[in-house]
Amino acid sequence: MDALTRSAWTETSYKRALKMLHDRSGIIVGEHKMKSSERLLEGLRKEYGFVTIDDFLDSLGNNKDHSGWPAFINCFTINHTAFFREPHHFEILAKYIEKHRTNCAIWCASCSTGEEPYSIAMVLNEIVGEQTPCPRIVATDIDGQAIQRAKAGIYSIDKLTGISEERLRRHFLKGNNKFEGKAKVKPALCDRIEFSELNLMSFSWPKPAMFDVVFCRNTMIYFDHETQVRLVANFARSMKPGGLLFIGHSETLASTTDQFTLLGQTVYQRNNR
Ligand SMILES: C[S@@+](CC[C@H](N)C(=O)[O-])C[C@H]1O[C@@H](n2cnc3c(N)ncnc32)[C@H](O)[C@@H]1O
Repeated sequence: MDALTRSAWTETSYKRALKMLHDRSGIIVGEHKMKSSERLLEGLRKEYGFVTIDDFLDSLGNNKDHSGWPAFINCFTINHTAFFREPHHFEILAKYIEKHRTNCAIWCASCSTGEEPYSIAMVLNEIVGEQTPCPRIVATDIDGQAIQRAKAGIYSIDKLTGISEERLRRHFLKGNNKFEGKAKVKPALCDRIEFSELNLMSFSWPKPAMFDVVFCRNTMIYFDHETQVRLVANFARSMKPGGLLFIGHSETLASTTDQFTLLGQTVYQRNNR
């Protein structure tokens, strides 16, 4: 990075980038990402052939369909996730599936690199059987790179700590040679999931009352209150009465909606109205 470019990354430029990020994705980021985002944005500046990062931001700002938008957002997203994160949620899901069996549609709305929807798929396959095509899982995320990794379904074995030995044997294939130390999810899990890139802030929401179960965990925490209210109202519209909404352990729907009832452990039920 040359001195001229480095000096161009000021607090004003950073604040401008954060506003663009928020307007586009609803994500709010604090001061702590100024350094790391500079490094990533500098890579994009070079890739797109601009003189300064601000020139790149100008170009994005002038074109809402610019191909650099997804990569710009990826500079700020936090993809931390894990298999069977918050394991009690998967026990609650299992009880729901045992009751509703195949008659159920599931949306994993911020699926990151796939650990969450594959955990859901393991629960489903164990209850309804691998040969039964329903229920299906729609898994989406704003981060296109994360979605590509999710589709590949290949994980380091040391990242599989939340999974029992029995589940590892049943749902994963151990790699060898160049895949030594890695494991791949079996096709029966992949077959249950449709992955796609989707920004919760800017798309036409699915038909009303389409989903029985929605997972949107550890994501709303990055949005401001107004964005959370909008998002939760859209979830309410897209869910069937009686359906379950799972959010992260440090999140709450309190003061955002009266359309859900808390069942406990950050699981909410869509009210019948
Ligand atoms: C911390 S991860 C949580 C992943 C997973 N839900 C879990 O709890 O393990 C947050 C995810 O939200 C995604 N995200 C952030 N803003 C989004 C938006 N506007 N639309 C869709 N996904 C978004 C990020 O890309 C990231 O993968």
